[in-house]
Amino acid sequence: MGYLGQFFVAVISLSQILNIAAAEETKSSESCGFAAIFNFGDSNSDTGCMSAAFYPAALPYGQTFFHHAAGRASDGRLIIDFIAKHLGLQYLSAYMDSIGTSYEHGANFGAASSTIRRQNRTFFDGGSPFSLEIQVAQFTQFKTRTTKLYNQGQGNSFPRPEDFAKAIYTFDIGQNDIAAALQRMGQENSQAVISDIVNQFSNQLIHLYNQGARTFWIHNTGPIGCLPVAMPIHNAYNYTPVDGYLDQNGCVVYQNDMAKEFNTKLNDTVVKLRALYLDASFVYVDIFSAKYELISNAKKEGKEDLLSHLKSVVGIMRVAITFTVEITMPPLMEDKFMLARVKILLHTLAGMACTTLTQQMAGSLIALSLDRSRIHHFLLHVHAC
Ligand SMILES: *[C@@H]1O[C@H](CO)[C@@H](O)[C@H](O)[C@H]1NC(C)=O
Ligand SMILES: *[C@@H]1O[C@H](CO)[C@@H](O)[C@H](O)[C@H]1NC(C)=O
Repeated sequence: MGYLGQFFVAVISLSQILNIAAAEETKSSESCGFAAIFNFGDSNSDTGCMSAAFYPAALPYGQTFFHHAAGRASDGRLIIDFIAKHLGLQYLSAYMDSIGTSYEHGANFGAASSTIRRQNRTFFDGGSPFSLEIQVAQFTQFKTRTTKLYNQGQGNSFPRPEDFAKAIYTFDIGQNDIAAALQRMGQENSQAVISDIVNQFSNQLIHLYNQGARTFWIHNTGPIGCLPVAMPIHNAYNYTPVDGYLDQNGCVVYQNDMAKEFNTKLNDTVVKLRALYLDASFVYVDIFSAKYELISNAKKEGKEDLLSHLKSVVGIMRVAITFTVEITMPPLMEDKFMLARVKILLHTLAGMACTTLTQQMAGSLIALSLDRSRIHHFLLHVHAC
């Protein structure tokens, strides 16, 4: 499983729920006119870094949209792909990828498993060597070298030096820092840890500002307590949680509280940066609420989970929702069995991508989700196929 580290992340496309497909034609952002995108992050936005740097991603990743493994921990596209498309730019190539890539309109430094702080874990322990500081160092090198080439008249396939100030700088990182902090919970002061994580994030944003970045698009972190990987006890067979351990959506409260704490501090930081750098624009994107709403709405419908919710819309709407199945993957037979089932399901669904969700597809997903052993929530990476 390589860079997916401790847990397996797959994205299943159940297409066309929200009619995103129709709204999805390429638009150029005439009002903003971003010349390029520079992205920094983790698996939520890795478009091929870890796949190029370590073991290549394999099918069923990429199967739905690209029809081959495309370096993403997803069967389809990621939010960053939709941002690129919306801005009328090409999908971002990973900076680490040397084959078939194009950097004319930016580069992606995001790498799966990456953190803001150094984690002292190798790739083989589920870590990534590309912490945010390294990603920013790579950007610096990218900027320096492409500018030099441009000035020598060889810069045709790179952004022009003036494009760096007109680019949008996108960020989706912090989830793995929180996962690491949760693992060490009780051994350190989590308030201090979160402050340190956010400070380091802020330092890198300032570092980029000092290199000419002026538009920052910053995703906060999602509800980590809703991911099965973050709640091994909850996922154990026959486990009955104590009162207050889970919220009304089955998410682990103290873990989501940690994510919220990070988000509050991140938002405070963004507010401060806005006041400090008046010629820059810092956009704070509330990904937590967007993802959490997906889960909450399923409950509001009086359904047991999102999949039941999806079942209720079968045949009514054409749907474009893609969501991630995350399962823990300790080296146990039962997990291998589960993994195999997920893969089979992925193959089944991939063949029907971008079609109306059928009763059968919803049914098999529900069967899977009701098997309470490992899989709980189906969310994240909302996108069309
Ligand atoms: C990683 O190791 C360095 C040096 O030992 C230490 O300063 C740092 O705090 C460690 N990082 C984490 C997240 O534990
Ligand atoms: C971020 O902080 C500002 C200022 O305190 C506040 O007005 C805003 O609602 C916060 N945004 C979010 C998404 O929490």
